[in-house]
Amino acid sequence: MGELRVSTVRAAASDVATPLLVLPIYERDTKPVGIGAEIDSRMGGAVSRVLESADFRGRKDETLVLFPHNTQLKAERVLLIGLGKREGYTLERLRRVVGLALRTAEKLGLPSFALSLEHTAHSGERLGLSLSARAASEAAVMGAWDFRQYKSRKDDDPHTSVAEMTLIASNEREQKDFEQAAGLGTVLGRSANLARELASQPGNVATPTYLADAAGDIAKQHGMKITVLDRAQMRAENMFALLAVAQGSAEEPRFIVLEYNGGKAGDRPLALIGKGVTFDSGGISIKPAERMEDMKYDMSGAAAVLGAMRGIAELKVRANVVGLIPATENMPSGTAVKPGDVISSHLGKSIEIINTDAEGRLILADALAYARRYNPVAMIDAATLTGAVVIALGQQAIGLMGNDGDLIDEVMAVGLRAGERCWNLPLWDEYRELLDSNIADIKNSGGRHAGTITGGWFLKEFVAEDIPWAHLDIAGMAYKDDAASYLRKGATGTPTRLFIEWVRGRAEA
Ligand code: BES
Ligand code: MN
Ligand code: ZN
Repeated sequence: MGELRVSTVRAAASDVATPLLVLPIYERDTKPVGIGAEIDSRMGGAVSRVLESADFRGRKDETLVLFPHNTQLKAERVLLIGLGKREGYTLERLRRVVGLALRTAEKLGLPSFALSLEHTAHSGERLGLSLSARAASEAAVMGAWDFRQYKSRKDDDPHTSVAEMTLIASNEREQKDFEQAAGLGTVLGRSANLARELASQPGNVATPTYLADAAGDIAKQHGMKITVLDRAQMRAENMFALLAVAQGSAEEPRFIVLEYNGGKAGDRPLALIGKGVTFDSGGISIKPAERMEDMKYDMSGAAAVLGAMRGIAELKVRANVVGLIPATENMPSGTAVKPGDVISSHLGKSIEIINTDAEGRLILADALAYARRYNPVAMIDAATLTGAVVIALGQQAIGLMGNDGDLIDEVMAVGLRAGERCWNLPLWDEYRELLDSNIADIKNSGGRHAGTITGGWFLKEFVAEDIPWAHLDIAGMAYKDDAASYLRKGATGTPTRLFIEWVRGRAEA
């Protein structure tokens, strides 16, 4: 299946030849405005009549296809899409509109659709046009993506694939602007799609070795340095927490480090760290069978690091970035780590294992401690760390924690813009007591209370105090149980776009 391409055209919307011209309309608009008025007059008042009839009210997610007849319109069809109220309009709402347009084109078997962004200029939020063009492009590229590799009959598509979205610009400057924004949005979308591709691979395919190979391909394509540690090398580095998780598995673990040098030689890097548990059975503290298959997604943090590293390289961002991925399975066996075991770690802190299913924090503890040797300016980790964050925030937000208020504010803002919203949870000192162990420096589970926060606190214990660090608990965001907004069911690529936008923002500053 080919990827969706975003093109631009400079024309009046009513002059664009397209199988499907999208016309977004705000709720309570009783007559079409802007390009809508133009299209309406060329259609002999058809849009006005629809609005008057109340067949279509512009409510959020409402759609209606009109067939122009005997008109001076070049479009074969006009798709009215409800925007909902002006005040609540956001970039995320625009992505949703693009998703709806795309699904409509798919259902009708159309190869392309065209969209003007004019309505965003008179939204309540007064969103910038280039930011809108970027967001629309991301949504189209991500919305079109599908994972069909293991379907025997690939031609048996339930939907034909839409090959192109055209953004309609009203003048030359705007078209240039759109071209650039669409280019960036496409890279953001394609990078997220790479992460989704990796995350969607089943556990028997996407093993730690497979992730290391995927990292190797990216390194080779873009001239990055790559280092991959095997079990013996992890032992030499005292990565006993990562090794403890890996010891129950026949599958070989890998510790992967990618280094991208787009900045000045010697400039301190930014670090991106991703949990790479390629299948989480829970280990000896085994999970219930129900939905255990979802635990193939437990390497979504790692997938996002890989997607982001490739995107950053494609965009030639002027920054040095190091990506770190501890990768392993978490399996029960005669050699597996047990509840009550005490282990050491790369940092030297001792850990009492209470629950072998709290494995993500163990492998990240070693990765976060190991990151010190790169002397990063700041670092962000992403992990499908706790079921508790799904209870707290559902599938709408990343749980954000950290040791630096400025970085947290920065990540909140970047996530909002990137379509990967975060919500901050506190790492107050009092929560640390939940991790006090009778016999070791710390235990790996704090019980049922504040599960996401104790997960974050555990990680904080392994982060150097002078490195600004943010932790993203993406357990609720890594995959969708059902199709939602512009994404199909399954892997979302979160937080690939946030990672790229964070690094880009730092490089520009
Ligand atoms: N990978 C899971 C978290 C998870 C749960 C991700 C649901 C996606 C959906 C993680 O390794 C885990 O099992 N966490 C435990 C921690 C507990 C034992 C302290 C959890 O959340 O139950
Ligand atoms: Mn687990
Ligand atoms: Zn896990």
